[in-house]
Amino acid sequence: MAHTRISPRRDNRSVRPVIVAGNWKMNTTPSSAGDLARAIADATDGTDVQRVLFPPYVCLAQVRDALRGRGLEVGAQNLHEEAGGAYTGEISGQMLRELATWVIVGHSERRRDQAETDEIVGRKLRRACEAGLTSILCVGELLEARQAGKAEQVVEAQLRGALSGVADRAEGHDFAIAYEPVWAIGTGETATGADAARMAGVIRATLARLGPDRRADEVPVLYGGSVTSASIGEFLAEPALDGALVGGASLKVDEMAGIVAAAGLVAAARRGAEGLS
Ligand code: PGA
Repeated sequence: MAHTRISPRRDNRSVRPVIVAGNWKMNTTPSSAGDLARAIADATDGTDVQRVLFPPYVCLAQVRDALRGRGLEVGAQNLHEEAGGAYTGEISGQMLRELATWVIVGHSERRRDQAETDEIVGRKLRRACEAGLTSILCVGELLEARQAGKAEQVVEAQLRGALSGVADRAEGHDFAIAYEPVWAIGTGETATGADAARMAGVIRATLARLGPDRRADEVPVLYGGSVTSASIGEFLAEPALDGALVGGASLKVDEMAGIVAAAGLVAAARRGAEGLS
């Protein structure tokens, strides 16, 4: 599949892309997903914002076909940590590469419901890398950790756990990090823009220490957790943040239109500030 790389450094400048990713979770069906994807494409047309939709596996082909030539990309919500074999009901990166260009790895709902550990998340990241998929690695703390003042420690440990197995292969592997505090997902509560930006700083400092060849300041950091068209502005006002991983609101065409419009203003301002047209 045609694939837009997220690394923007074609001309050695350091403007990161602005990304709006829509995670549809366990919603839509093969007969409804194409229409929703087309409606979102229509409502978000003509933007510099990198848009990616993450439908359920069974809707990937329909969404890919609906988005052909529209400038949006398609991603899967998960992949298996093995390359293939006797794993009934599972989906590998190699299978996905015919249908998608992105994949979400380590979403907190999977860490919680499928007991995905950092070690498993790291193996998934490695498989995504081998399959040539761009990953969004999700990290984020539980409410108890935030209240105990341990949010940064948790996120740092998640990154170390997941990336230690891929640091040696990170060259050429495009990935973004989504900071999604677990207490903000689907709750209507959000982190503050300032808190999320501080965490983006911790994430980049950790990436720099882990030492993959990619420069840490090139890696897009997204915020996720109850993002809507009303709250996106607070996050994108922070230069450390490069977009959003949107759950519930990504199923609503008007919400996606508002989120991408706000993100488009930021993308244009960043390009303008760098003297890129
Ligand atoms: P939400 O989900 O926007 O519905 O909180 C975000 C996510 O889980 O990625």
